Amino acid sequence: MDFPSDFFADHFHLGIFFMKQFLSVNDVPYLQGLVHLAKEVREFPHKYPTLGSGKCLGLIFMNSSLRTRMSTQRAAMNLGMSTMVLNMQQDGWQLEFGDGAIMNGDKAEHIREAAAVMGQYCEIIGVRAFSGLKDRDADYAETVIQGFAQYTNRPVVSLESATRHPLQSLADVLTIENRKQVAKPKVVLTWAPHPRALPQAVPNSFVEWTVRAGYEVVITHPEGYELPDTFTAGATLEPNQNKALEGAHFVYAKNWSSYLHYGQTLSQDPAWTVSAEKMALTDQAYFMHCLPVRRNVIVTDEVIDSPQSLVIEQAGNRVPAAQAVLIELLKGL
Ligand code: CP
Repeated sequence: MDFPSDFFADHFHLGIFFMKQFLSVNDVPYLQGLVHLAKEVREFPHKYPTLGSGKCLGLIFMNSSLRTRMSTQRAAMNLGMSTMVLNMQQDGWQLEFGDGAIMNGDKAEHIREAAAVMGQYCEIIGVRAFSGLKDRDADYAETVIQGFAQYTNRPVVSLESATRHPLQSLADVLTIENRKQVAKPKVVLTWAPHPRALPQAVPNSFVEWTVRAGYEVVITHPEGYELPDTFTAGATLEPNQNKALEGAHFVYAKNWSSYLHYGQTLSQDPAWTVSAEKMALTDQAYFMHCLPVRRNVIVTDEVIDSPQSLVIEQAGNRVPAAQAVLIELLKGL
């Protein structure tokens, strides 16, 4: 991506990147502008210390989190914004999402009231709701995060939904922009083994964002791990991992379960682990992973501990990524 810097210099005052919500890259009117803002925020994190004062960010977690929780809270703090965190599984009521449901079972509260009430307390709502990996149609309909978006009457930020993780992807693009040495780097997304079935949200989102950023994106995985076509348009599939890695500038490792055989683990083949031998096939590529990562399953110690590993920088970039998104949403309030 190229940034005509004088055009963007005034972006904050012009408000040209107005966003209503942040559920996917499709909510970003101008990706270059958002990445540019994130770069600026990384350099000057305290440039807008009162933008969020008097406002509250509600963070609703249906699932565990380290990076997303802490980086988003830190981003809000840098803008003078308060946060409230609700761990729904431990502390909230069980929510019903079905229209017309007769609620005589375990679920005590409907999303219609829960989301509307949260909107009374918070100006922006963040939601983390992973896929269940049982019902593909329900997961890909994004019932939970769409329920919040529909009924809260506030901008909603995805903290990772069933099919996407846009805050992670923005941080990933920011990391690549910071490190790339050619205008259009070759970015390889490689499947890697894992003992548990994981969602497709991170790889789906990573492909969407990196294609939109204008990179050469190559995906490699064992048979049966094809990602949905709607997310992979513009990327190339190379089933041979060694071939895919040739000439790569960035290697992004991630496990995901099968989309075709929904939620199933079809392989745990250690030959797909990212090792020093695999990295030697690349053009001195950087190694990336969203974390948390299983050492010596996804990637060897030698690779993740090498100077080419960007995993800590990526995690650090979660703060400016979240802060850029909050700035854009606060401008619309
Ligand atoms: N990468 C990421 O989203 O980390 P957490 O699940 O710890 O938030």
